[in-house]
Amino acid sequence: MSPRVALVTGAARGIGAATVRRLALQGCSVLAVDLAADDPALPYPMATPADLAAVGALPNVDTFVADVRDPAAMQAAVTEAERRWGGLDVAIAAAGVIAGGVPLWEVPPEQEKAVLDVNLTGVLTLARAAIPALLRRPQPRHGRFLAVASAAATRGLPMLAAYCAAKAGVAGLVRALGAELGGSGVTANAVSPGSTDTPILAESARLYALPDAAAFAAQQPVQRLLGPDEVAAVLAFLASPDSGAMTGAVVPVDGGLAL
Ligand SMILES: NC(=O)c1ccc[n+]([C@@H]2O[C@H](COP(=O)([O-])OP(=O)(O)OC[C@H]3O[C@@H](n4cnc5c(N)ncnc54)[C@H](O)[C@@H]3O)[C@@H](O)[C@H]2O)c1
Repeated sequence: MSPRVALVTGAARGIGAATVRRLALQGCSVLAVDLAADDPALPYPMATPADLAAVGALPNVDTFVADVRDPAAMQAAVTEAERRWGGLDVAIAAAGVIAGGVPLWEVPPEQEKAVLDVNLTGVLTLARAAIPALLRRPQPRHGRFLAVASAAATRGLPMLAAYCAAKAGVAGLVRALGAELGGSGVTANAVSPGSTDTPILAESARLYALPDAAAFAAQQPVQRLLGPDEVAAVLAFLASPDSGAMTGAVVPVDGGLAL
């Protein structure tokens, strides 16, 4: 089989960056897409251009600065991957943001909008741009649309209501896409990470007035935080042709958090 081509959003750090690394090690060509700039609606830093450049220094990885909320930008990213490597086999929506820390009705509207627009509409926007490209591959194809949901998709986490709503939406989206894609050879799946040691978890700790992210370890049956590469390992399997029996699945990668 010729080398597979992947596009990953939220690729400059955390779970997205670890996934780019895994896919590149597997021999994929990867377009690493990230906003690589702060979001004025949110009080914590996003990845930087230097973060994205570090990921882009890996072999077979190119970078693309884009906002997942921008349909034209997502289309341009998909077009760039196809132009650069001749097609697209894998699209992974890992970009995500968090906000809350107060009851829903007290969350500043611009923060609620950012959480819904990045975490849910951003996944829909990538799906709209990328799935036609996955279907442009000739049969037999092994296209993979993947999203990063969260344990918050199934748990009611206080002070994170908009985040829970968006992630539950991602789970519903992936189930419906799995059914829609039917026998096309393209599947749609998601992972639901538990508390994973990345900047979004540090921001979650701040929102809950905890001293640091390590405080979340005790709530997970494995009694530790997960590393981003542990989530990336499952995404890399789901991205491979070997996962062809799975579609519409939302796979917990959460150290037992959802139990
Ligand atoms: N870390 C956890 O504990 C945890 C748990 C469950 C789910 N998740 C999910 O995992 C995914 C990855 O998060 P992470 O933990 O790596 O956090 P992170 O903050 O390290 O990474 C998020 C990345 O998304 C990028 N991004 C933010 N807004 C963007 C936009 N509008 N367009 C393009 N890129 C944008 C950021 O620059 C950053 O590189 C997210 O969807 C998050 O909700 C994380």
